[in-house]
Amino acid sequence: MFSKEEFSKAKILIIDDQKLHHLYLEKVLRDAGGFQNIRCLADPLKAYSTVLEYNPDLIVLDILLPQLDGFQIMEQLHSFRERHYLPILAVSAEQSTDFRLKALRMGATDFLHKPYENAEIIFRIRNMLEMRLMHMTVESQNRLLEEKVDERTKELKASQIEIIRRLAQAAEFRDNETGAHIIRMSHYCARLARAMGFSDQDVELVLTASPLHDIGKIGIPDSILLKPAKLTVQEFEIMKTHTTIGAQLLTGASSPVMKMAQTIALSHHENWDGTGYPKGLKGDEIPLVGQICSVSDVFDALISERPYKRPWTPQQAAQEIISQKGKKFKPELVDRFELILPEFIQITQDCRNESSQ
Ligand SMILES: [Fe+2]
Ligand SMILES: [Fe+2]
Repeated sequence: MFSKEEFSKAKILIIDDQKLHHLYLEKVLRDAGGFQNIRCLADPLKAYSTVLEYNPDLIVLDILLPQLDGFQIMEQLHSFRERHYLPILAVSAEQSTDFRLKALRMGATDFLHKPYENAEIIFRIRNMLEMRLMHMTVESQNRLLEEKVDERTKELKASQIEIIRRLAQAAEFRDNETGAHIIRMSHYCARLARAMGFSDQDVELVLTASPLHDIGKIGIPDSILLKPAKLTVQEFEIMKTHTTIGAQLLTGASSPVMKMAQTIALSHHENWDGTGYPKGLKGDEIPLVGQICSVSDVFDALISERPYKRPWTPQQAAQEIISQKGKKFKPELVDRFELILPEFIQITQDCRNESSQ
């Protein structure tokens, strides 16, 4: 399965205190086995550090060594070998079955008595290396597969965000020609969510889901949505239904991002004091993401230019939000908003710079 060349490049470490045996085995492996990368180690105390540094493909380990014997070396290498497939060929002049079994039990992949046939040690080493090479091949294929899955997941996520943004823009298209509102708004929401202690994962969900807050505007007639004058009470009642229409559109979705989008669509016009719509929820009955979107939406509406008003400065908009603490908005949320106001201003500037480029 593997070429001669691949075998010849394999790194073999011989651990044996008898230099004569080193020289002999190294010559056999080079001449008859065709192996090119062989290192010999006479000092068993250096076994562990040599394995880490040389990273061999196979160890030929003499068991009877001074100071640290082959059993102890295998013990030292135990956790390393749990992480890396490293075959060990134990060799020894000791003939007893117990000894041989102990070596195998302690982790030797194979056992060979000294003296051995040259051909036999070469065959055994080749067999063990074949396993090692197969193992390495499978490992690198797994790594490649994992990288591919990661890449595809990222692509999927990016296209999901793209689709949601486009969908949200379609809903905003009629009354907000730039679409910049939903981009700014989603970033404000994400910053507020982080400031409120959301996990990274939930912050990302908020970022992705919040552009859909007004998706229900799709169901509001032009005569109301685009009316240049103040809405009548009746018209405003219809306008309010963009929350329930949005929630209906997103109902039954299974993905966390769509579930969050539904919550936001339904609750982003609820007020802390119970005066909002559609349900008139009060205090913590209102989902926190709904309140986060509410603050962000109001802030952005105030700093934006409309046919009937000039844009407010971020400081003026912030004052308005602060004045609604405990009325329209959760008090703690307003406190956090004040703390991160510079981040809101930064987002406003970044979006302006982007759109002017
Ligand atoms: Fe809305
Ligand atoms: Fe909005």
